[in-house]
Amino acid sequence: MKLKLRLVDELRSSSPFVDARAVDELRSSSPFAEARVRKFTFSDLKRILEIEKSSFTTDAYPKSRFAKLAKKHSDGFFVIENAGKILGYIIGYKTKKNQGDLDSIAIDPKYRKLGIGKLLLRYILNQFKKKGLRHASLEVRAKNKTAISFYRDMGFKAKRVIKEFYRDKADAYQMERAI
Ligand SMILES: CC(C)(COP(=O)(O)OP(=O)(O)OC[C@H]1O[C@@H](n2cnc3c(N)ncnc32)[C@H](O)[C@@H]1OP(=O)(O)O)[C@@H](O)C(=O)NCCC(=O)NCCS
Repeated sequence: MKLKLRLVDELRSSSPFVDARAVDELRSSSPFAEARVRKFTFSDLKRILEIEKSSFTTDAYPKSRFAKLAKKHSDGFFVIENAGKILGYIIGYKTKKNQGDLDSIAIDPKYRKLGIGKLLLRYILNQFKKKGLRHASLEVRAKNKTAISFYRDMGFKAKRVIKEFYRDKADAYQMERAI
């Protein structure tokens, strides 16, 4: 059974991505009873970099990239924390008319496969919805089977291959879903 997480009131409001039963589950007590999603602040940077380094090899963002994203997209950069410890982060923002892009997501390896990534992705899709966006899009390494299966599970479909998308010339899938 999934571990249960409690979120800030914002997430409890009715949303097509967080149904009543899910919210009840999230509210019940567990080792993660204090978990909440909140906006990134610069004091989170050290911990975010730690999660980033343990999550990515060639694609890890440097400090400067996070700082830039936090300045430019402060309303699209969220962390999930429990009892003062950050467990993961997500970054997503509007890129085109009606479209939000997921820029990055990573969960501390110690806390994976517990539903935390799914929860953060739902959270950001909900933010997109509130902004009136209709589509969500992302790029993922064609070889990142875990992430592809994670996004599929969340309703994303691969639309095309982008050849040599990454610096090391690896291919990406562009994946999309309606909001
Ligand atoms: C991808 C990632 C964010 C998923 O986070 P997570 O909290 O472990 O995912 P969840 O527990 O919410 O999983 C939700 C669903 O995704 C799929 N999934 C997650 N991890 C999986 C794995 N290792 N293998 C296969 N499917 C997986 C499953 O369908 C899962 O549902 P289930 O638990 O009911 O089977 C996490 O693995 C991660 O941080 N990876 C490294 C960074 C990364 O690759 N980010 C994406 C870059 S595009």
